Amino acid sequence: MSAATVPGTAPGSFQFTPENMELAQRIIAKYPPGRQQSAVMPLLDLAQRQNDNWLPEAAINYVADLLEMPRIRAKEVATFYTMYNLKPVGKHFVQVCTTTPCWLRGSDDVLHACEKKLGIKPGETTADGQFTVIEVECLGACVNAPMMQVNDDFYEDLTAETTEAILDKLARGEKPVPGPQSGRKGSYPIGGPTTLVEQAIRAGVKPAGQK
Ligand code: FES
Repeated sequence: MSAATVPGTAPGSFQFTPENMELAQRIIAKYPPGRQQSAVMPLLDLAQRQNDNWLPEAAINYVADLLEMPRIRAKEVATFYTMYNLKPVGKHFVQVCTTTPCWLRGSDDVLHACEKKLGIKPGETTADGQFTVIEVECLGACVNAPMMQVNDDFYEDLTAETTEAILDKLARGEKPVPGPQSGRKGSYPIGGPTTLVEQAIRAGVKPAGQK
């Protein structure tokens, strides 16, 4: 339920749903009494998830008031970290990593595939509100570069073709399988194992990563 549809709230206001308020209280309880402000990041994240993946000012103020901290302090956090969206985004929030390891492995192709398939540039949202594409810095999956994140899922070992296939599935309402799109498991070497192979065979163990 988005904030605007919570019964009893005025337009432009925000409040947690009862379920999220319970969750918020559990998060706050992880910190010592009087240190509840330490929960500002997970609570902003919770508010964002409740509000279609973006944080209106009313939600930032609500979290600040709940944590009894100055509103400007919560706003400083929300505007500093790029994980918080300060304006509406599409249902599928596509973050393409273009930092050096991904760039060396073809992130330009991934980004261009998004632009071509969706007809938008980085930072834009499709007219139907389905997709937003942005360029981001390293998301910590360099070993499976190039990659992109869609909402909470990582898609790795991408090519232009696999990127387009993922976007097609999302547009059809399907859920593409996250993880490496190259067929390899996790971060195993793409060509299979190269070390300790003979020892594994001698021990009667199939070397990790071999099909
Ligand atoms: S450089 Fe892309 S995930 Fe690290």
